[in-house]
Amino acid sequence: MISVHDILVSFSLGGGAEHTVLRNLTLEVKRGQTVSIIGSNGAGKSTLLNAIAGTVPLQAGKILLDGQDVTPLPEWERAIHVGRVRQDPLAGTAGDMTVLDNLALAARKGPRRFRIATPPKFAREMAERVAELGMGLENRLHENVSRLSGGQRQALTLLMAVLSRPSVLLLDEHTAALDPANAEIVGELTRRFIEEFQLTALIVTHDMKRALDQASRVVMMHEGSIIADLSGPEKDRMDVPGLVRLFKQARGAEYAEDRDLLT
Ligand SMILES: Nc1ncnc2c1ncn2[C@@H]1O[C@H](COP(=O)(O)OP(=O)(O)OP(=O)(O)O)[C@@H](O)[C@H]1O
Ligand SMILES: [Mg+2]
Repeated sequence: MISVHDILVSFSLGGGAEHTVLRNLTLEVKRGQTVSIIGSNGAGKSTLLNAIAGTVPLQAGKILLDGQDVTPLPEWERAIHVGRVRQDPLAGTAGDMTVLDNLALAARKGPRRFRIATPPKFAREMAERVAELGMGLENRLHENVSRLSGGQRQALTLLMAVLSRPSVLLLDEHTAALDPANAEIVGELTRRFIEEFQLTALIVTHDMKRALDQASRVVMMHEGSIIADLSGPEKDRMDVPGLVRLFKQARGAEYAEDRDLLT
């Protein structure tokens, strides 16, 4: 469960000026629910994920993960609750370490971590896991990750993010840098892992079709606030043109405000 309660995040622009990026934002996500987060560039989607992961501080409000108030905890203490994959395939893995060593690091993290009985047993288990990724990595466990392609690295990062059975999975445009075939594979893996590990997931995407297909709920952000929160029949009735219309409405209101300011 994720409970984001009335949070405020702003960044100092120097000279005493502040840029408020998230304003009075509240979001409740039930355990096991997957939510797509969409919204224009600069809407605050990544900042929301950063606030949950603890990489940006809150000026007000609080965040609970599975009922525990994590607001005062630094990023490294929250890391046991949080699995993350970012847009950049290079960001989630250590390139100068082998596939197996990266997996071992990830598996040691977290309270529900894999028990690593013996290295050979762990290697066998991981060979099975990476074989399921369908990218031929089971034969490359002892190769450095820097030799893998972006799609292979992103699939590995996703596996690493779910290995410790985190309370929440935060995915920030994690298929955006991949070619259509790999984006499809990693998208499908995401669905499988969320189901298998019963994860609570927030997935940021600019792909409207994917946003609708992958989640039972779609949240649209604009200028630091949630402007639409669709679930149930409302979400079932929604289609890509409908989402695009919502985008345009939000932008239209913004242009109207600009016009008012100029006149
Ligand atoms: N560390 C930071 N310092 C200053 N400003 C920041 C910082 N991080 C984000 N911002 C600002 O906060 C706003 C929201 O950024 P954020 O990255 O959350 O947007 P986003 O919705 O993820 O956009 P995109 O779709 O382009 O990824 C932007 O105006 C950005 O410049
Ligand atoms: Mg972003």
